[in-house]
Amino acid sequence: MSYSVLLTLHLIAATLFVGTVFFEVIILEGIRPHVPRDTMRLLERAIGKRARRIMPWVLLVLYAAGISMAWHYRHLLSHPLGSGFSLLLTLKIILATSVFAHFATAMIMHARNRLRSVHFKWIHISVFIHVLLIVFLAKAMFY
Ligand code: HEM
Repeated sequence: MSYSVLLTLHLIAATLFVGTVFFEVIILEGIRPHVPRDTMRLLERAIGKRARRIMPWVLLVLYAAGISMAWHYRHLLSHPLGSGFSLLLTLKIILATSVFAHFATAMIMHARNRLRSVHFKWIHISVFIHVLLIVFLAKAMFY
């Protein structure tokens, strides 16, 4: 698959993922104080169910395209301190790995029925900060 197709897929998947996280953190958390606790729990359950159906595919495309593109830079990545680009791309990949760890933790906690509202909230805030830094690094590494 050509690099430009991988980049387009990566960018579309990143937009869907970052947009979803933005919705969950800024919109959903913003209405929490105005919605009864039980209603909020129902809402989170319904959104969570929908997200668990769609997000694994979005993440698959995002990470598969990202890893395929990173393969083109493998020589630079073998020396993370060799240039500004290698350093920023390495940091971006570390943050993306941490995002994946958050996602896996949430899935495992949900499977064990231990994912509470408070976890839901803090996992989303942490992922939101991660993705903002990732997008910043993704652009900064070229300038
Ligand atoms: C949460 C996960 C991720 C997000 C939100 C994300 C987001 C982005 C964004 C917004 C760009 C800029 C695209 C453009 O300007 O056209 C980008 C570029 C890039 N990403 Fe990711 N990314 C993620 C994960 C990964 C992973 C896991 C890898 C590799 C292991 C990766 C490798 C790359 C590379 C190599 C580029 C540079 C592409 C280029 O312009 O030539 N990304 N990423």
